[in-house]
Amino acid sequence: MTEISEPTTKATAEQVAAAFEDNKLAQILYHDWEAETYDEKWSISYDQRCIDYARGRFDAIVPVEDQRELPYDRALELGCGTGFFLLNLMQSGVARRGSVTDLSPGMVKVATRTGKELGLDVDGRVADAERIPYDDNTFDLVVGHAVLHHIPDVELSLREVLRVLKPGGRFIFAGEPTTVGNLYARALANLTWKATVQAMKLPGLESWRRPQEELDENSRAAALEWVVDLHTFDPADLEKMAANAGAVAVRTASEEFTAAMLGWPVRTFESTVPPGKLGWGWAKFAFGGWKALSWVDENVWRHVVPKGWYYNVMITGIKPS
Ligand SMILES: C[S@@+](CC[C@H](N)C(=O)[O-])C[C@H]1O[C@@H](n2cnc3c(N)ncnc32)[C@H](O)[C@@H]1O
Repeated sequence: MTEISEPTTKATAEQVAAAFEDNKLAQILYHDWEAETYDEKWSISYDQRCIDYARGRFDAIVPVEDQRELPYDRALELGCGTGFFLLNLMQSGVARRGSVTDLSPGMVKVATRTGKELGLDVDGRVADAERIPYDDNTFDLVVGHAVLHHIPDVELSLREVLRVLKPGGRFIFAGEPTTVGNLYARALANLTWKATVQAMKLPGLESWRRPQEELDENSRAAALEWVVDLHTFDPADLEKMAANAGAVAVRTASEEFTAAMLGWPVRTFESTVPPGKLGWGWAKFAFGGWKALSWVDENVWRHVVPKGWYYNVMITGIKPS
């Protein structure tokens, strides 16, 4: 496997060419490139808005009766990115101590720095989810958000998760794309990208235009996205993988149907205009719209639409005692 311990801020042409043959190198280069601007791109924050979002995912999959012993003592995050999931879960009282890990050194650097700025008890480490560099029976909780679909052998990684969990420990992975959801999300995102880039060429919209070289860079990155996004999931298949890896009490839940149909165009639009142009008023509108449509998805569409048609799937399970 490719070992890189320092962030690669500017990949060389040779590295990019090699990345098309070496998926883990592609993951590192792409995510290192994104690390310092990732929070802005995805409107990630560490205030109540994102604390509630992260905790909402936890509450949606962990039964209430299993939440009596919170906080967990020691938690691990795989593919932490900038730390959005575990740092916000810790702020909501889910875990006392956290280890944020990622294949990308740039992401680990940002996540550790943010964790310390928030005054949390965190440490960070570069780690491949397919061979987690921790001893057996170390953690009470393992979490991940939008990471499983980047890992070549998901079942191998789940076996590793069970190895490093203490008996009775729990894992939760949220934010994974379903196979059907990914189809409409990508189509809507592509449409939004094309429409916004064209619209910004209209006279009077100069200040809304990103410099062409930034748009070109975004397009190249979007091409790499096809390389780094390896899987989409059918919820039943994901449950089978976790059971094969040795987990018990496995369950999946899915969410975001119309909410994803709003969310993907919104996020794509945000990445097309200059950073900071839309401000927190827009972020609040986007989050408010997402919340309203999530309510409709849960209370109306849930009765009609199959689980696998929702955009996001999450999974939890326990290591047998
Ligand atoms: C889509 S980002 C999600 C980041 C963060 N969890 C979030 O939700 O904002 C996926 C992350 O997984 C990491 N990743 C990809 N392959 C990995 C692997 N084999 N082991 C650990 N992390 C990996 C990437 O470097 C990237 O930071």
